[in-house]
Amino acid sequence: MYTVVITGATKGIGRSLSIAYASQCVQLVLIARDEQLLKALSEECRVKGAKAQYYLLDLSNTEEAIRASSEIAEEYDVDLLISNAGITGIADEGEVEPWTQIESILSLNCTGAIAITHSILIDMQNREAGHVAYISSIAAYHGMPLTPAYCASKSAIKAYAEAIRGGLASKSVMITLVTPGFVETDMSDQFPSKKPFMVSSDEAARIIKKGLDRKKRIISFPLTLTIGMKCLVFLPAFVSDLILSKLKY
Ligand SMILES: NC(=O)c1ccc[n+]([C@@H]2O[C@H](COP(=O)([O-])OP(=O)(O)OC[C@H]3O[C@@H](n4cnc5c(N)ncnc54)[C@H](OP(=O)(O)O)[C@@H]3O)[C@@H](O)[C@H]2O)c1
Repeated sequence: MYTVVITGATKGIGRSLSIAYASQCVQLVLIARDEQLLKALSEECRVKGAKAQYYLLDLSNTEEAIRASSEIAEEYDVDLLISNAGITGIADEGEVEPWTQIESILSLNCTGAIAITHSILIDMQNREAGHVAYISSIAAYHGMPLTPAYCASKSAIKAYAEAIRGGLASKSVMITLVTPGFVETDMSDQFPSKKPFMVSSDEAARIIKKGLDRKKRIISFPLTLTIGMKCLVFLPAFVSDLILSKLKY
């Protein structure tokens, strides 16, 4: 059995990834907060031949996330963990985001996303096997005025994945950083500006799974947006600020 753990499994990219991985010889552990959706998704995955368990968890509660990581590591030899759950929040123009918004984004997208991998990574290190993918965003490459806390959280995850990748490689544990552009989901519905090169969540899952199957260190798509965001870093700050303000990002 190939064991795959997916957080944020009930909707969007996580749901499409769960369906994409559901097949015979796969044991899925699906994590999210909505029990009805988790039950229905587990059943859908079983119909496709997979074994599917679900785990009800609010990842923004760090203690619960740490406990869950340790329980899952004890129960399963995890082959692949996809730390995908995330939320966003928009800042009103010229306003600082409310603290409650900043705190919930950072506690889920940053602390929770790392906490759920913690004991599972230690177990993988001891077994000298396993693969963890962190779903960041192209927003990690340069901050955007519309989503400051979100960009900060995605930047943190990117830095964490890049930082642990080298050390864990010597223990045969693979780390993949995923930085998608716009994907059609409830999250991107909240983004009020243009969403060029947007792909469906099924297409995003197909690209991510293909990259993970090939054990890629970085999966970034679409190429044009990735290059654009990376270029912002090399421009003088007043030019990149101007470009982002013209694009209403
Ligand atoms: N959509 C995009 O354009 C885009 C682009 C780049 C990167 N991403 C990243 O891709 C990932 C998935 O995004 P998406 O667009 O698929 O989002 P989505 O459709 O809004 O789904 C978010 C998932 O996260 C779960 N979740 C939310 N809060 C949670 C919490 N406190 N504890 C546990 N699970 C929680 C939700 O399930 P429950 O409500 O059942 O808990 C849901 O399954 C995120 O990390 C996002 O930053 C998205």
